[in-house]
Amino acid sequence: MKTTTDFQKMKTNGEPIVMLTAYDFPSAKLAEEANVDVILVGDSLGMVVLGYESTIPVTVEDMVHHTKAVRRGAKNTFIVTDMPFMSYHTSIEDTMKNAMKLMQDGGAHALKLEGAGDVCFTISRLVAAGVPVVAHLGLTPQSVGVLGGYKVQGKDSETAKKLIEDAKEAEKAGAMMLVLECVPKQLAEVITSEISIPTIGIGAGNKTDGQVLVYHDVIQNGFGHIPKFVKPYADANSVIQNAIQQYRSEVKTREFPDDLHSFTMKEEQLVSLYG
Ligand code: KIV
Ligand code: NA
Repeated sequence: MKTTTDFQKMKTNGEPIVMLTAYDFPSAKLAEEANVDVILVGDSLGMVVLGYESTIPVTVEDMVHHTKAVRRGAKNTFIVTDMPFMSYHTSIEDTMKNAMKLMQDGGAHALKLEGAGDVCFTISRLVAAGVPVVAHLGLTPQSVGVLGGYKVQGKDSETAKKLIEDAKEAEKAGAMMLVLECVPKQLAEVITSEISIPTIGIGAGNKTDGQVLVYHDVIQNGFGHIPKFVKPYADANSVIQNAIQQYRSEVKTREFPDDLHSFTMKEEQLVSLYG
């Protein structure tokens, strides 16, 4: 299993870090078998596998439940779990208790928090308590209401400068890694060179130290809007839909199950069944 030290080395050596989300046992197992460097149990699971409209309804219990399944599927991969909406804002005590649940019950190796400002103080407290923290800046979906939609962040020099400052603050607070979501590629490149912790981009161009995508986007096995930054590498939806349609049709025609998929008993045992 790769560790914080390995990710730091990968940045130094210019080896891109591959992060992929996973939410359950089979997706985690496939991600591990494909040798991804880090698995993210993202709160995107709220939209992707639970059918919510945003990440806002996702709870700590949801994240624990899914992290446990991911951990069972990927025993040898570094797992980052999202702290969900408002689970790190009400008080430092609540934050610590929630972090404890996600790591002790869930089995996460690190936790990801969105935002800057006060969140940096929270990051430093978590790190001081021994929790590896991944920061998340740019488009921060838990603040979608405040941001006014899912939009690219840091497009003008003023907001870009603020993001550079926020990134430096997150590093100073002790974050081990920084996710940059939906920012211009030039800004992501500047941030990547200005801080010494690895940056992981999503919709942030190819100059970050690594990339992250949502599992269901990569294999096209979802129903949400597909953002511009997603490149699908398969069409799982149509493979699955074809299989289900074929199954349905073969049940209707009694083609399935055939003898190959049925059990039999001996003739002499059968006789007595009919009295
Ligand atoms: O929840 C998630 O999947 C994420 C990534 C998109 C970075 O936070
Ligand atoms: Na997330």
